[in-house]
Amino acid sequence: MAMSDLTTPKTTSPFLRSSSQLRLSSKLHLSNQFRHLHLLPPPLHATSISKISCSVSQNNQAPVAVQENGSVKTKKECYGVFCLTYDLKAEEETKSWKKMINVAVSGAAGMISNHLLFKLASGSVFGPDQPIALKLLGSERSIQALEGVAMELEDSLFPLLREVDIGTDPYEVFQDVDWALLIGAKPRGPGMERAALLDINGQIFAEQGKALNAVASPNVKVLVVGNPCNTNALICLKNAPNIPAKNFHALTRLDENRAKCQLALKAGVFYDKVSNMTIWGNHSTTQVPDFLNARINGLPVKEVITDHKWLEEGFTESVQKRGGLLIQKWGRSSAASTAVSIVDAIKSLVTPTPEGDWFSTGVYTNGNPYGIAEDLVFSMPCRSKGDGDYELVKDVEIDDYLRNRIAKSEAELLAEKKCVAHLTGDGIAFCDLGPVDTMLPGEV
Ligand code: LMR
Repeated sequence: MAMSDLTTPKTTSPFLRSSSQLRLSSKLHLSNQFRHLHLLPPPLHATSISKISCSVSQNNQAPVAVQENGSVKTKKECYGVFCLTYDLKAEEETKSWKKMINVAVSGAAGMISNHLLFKLASGSVFGPDQPIALKLLGSERSIQALEGVAMELEDSLFPLLREVDIGTDPYEVFQDVDWALLIGAKPRGPGMERAALLDINGQIFAEQGKALNAVASPNVKVLVVGNPCNTNALICLKNAPNIPAKNFHALTRLDENRAKCQLALKAGVFYDKVSNMTIWGNHSTTQVPDFLNARINGLPVKEVITDHKWLEEGFTESVQKRGGLLIQKWGRSSAASTAVSIVDAIKSLVTPTPEGDWFSTGVYTNGNPYGIAEDLVFSMPCRSKGDGDYELVKDVEIDDYLRNRIAKSEAELLAEKKCVAHLTGDGIAFCDLGPVDTMLPGEV
């Protein structure tokens, strides 16, 4: 999905110009790969600032923030005016807030992120009492744009947004992150074999998996959006053995949302009446939108929509190829709806799933009840208690139609997995994707 922003780790960055609103962090003096921007808490909400004075050292070394009571609070990467610090527990308005969470976003200067970051910062994803630090990973090429993103975030005066870091090194940007939203990936160029795409992007996700393993919070939740997202998620988790495999997801929520919309249109109801929508398999044109178990107004779809031929052919294909149609219209991949579906995917994990319903997400197959091959990342129906975790829904009916379709998507993922064996620690890669080179939704 995120096509524009390929992360190139471990390279040097151009000099970052400082301005009154945007400063180099002291850390930059140590490593110019990482730029740390501390956002001033917005004036209307930042009464805690008045209690803290900031000592700026003459030689531009990291100063420390001194609180009014004389205690010295060291603040990492404090620089100039951004030495101002805050104690969220000190103010009436913020003392009931939760502990700050760190959220990393790769491909942060791309279109999807441009929609996503402002939703994250606004509190509409993690909640109105959840302060947030955004860690933005980009490429060398995008560093100026990343600064632009950070400046726009500053200018938005989001009370909950307390820090913004930008950088090109995942080992720095992923430090202590609680969530990693991995959007950046290279697009398949004209004439590029899918095998080559798998390899190029796989290397990025292998590197990012290693970095998460080394420096992220041990219970970090990882959502892979960059395509081919299922196999990229598998590569990522294989390179992060210290993080539970269960914590990794591939984004198929966009497909779920598209499927709900198509069913609603056909049934002549608003889309909030469609529930229990599963996307099985790969985020590709082999994905299986499950109309057998989905419901409209609580009734089985097949009872509401009696044109079963349309369900098997028209509906299924329209969901599988929606991304491609959108590219024809827009001239680029979906961005806003992808960002919305990322928000939906996160919210599904941090809020309890409504009784009787479920959501789709690509998860690691490890003891699944549907006979899907183990050791893949496969989209399935899940529920959550709202604690960031999920459980599989285990009693969904599979008929012959579904079984055959699901088997095709499974075969595709098994073939993709063989292509990236060198990146998952499974030996030498052997890539035979069959006579039909299947497509990402946007490639058709
Ligand atoms: C989408 O589903 O819209 C994207 O994954 C399409 C693509 O291939 O970028």
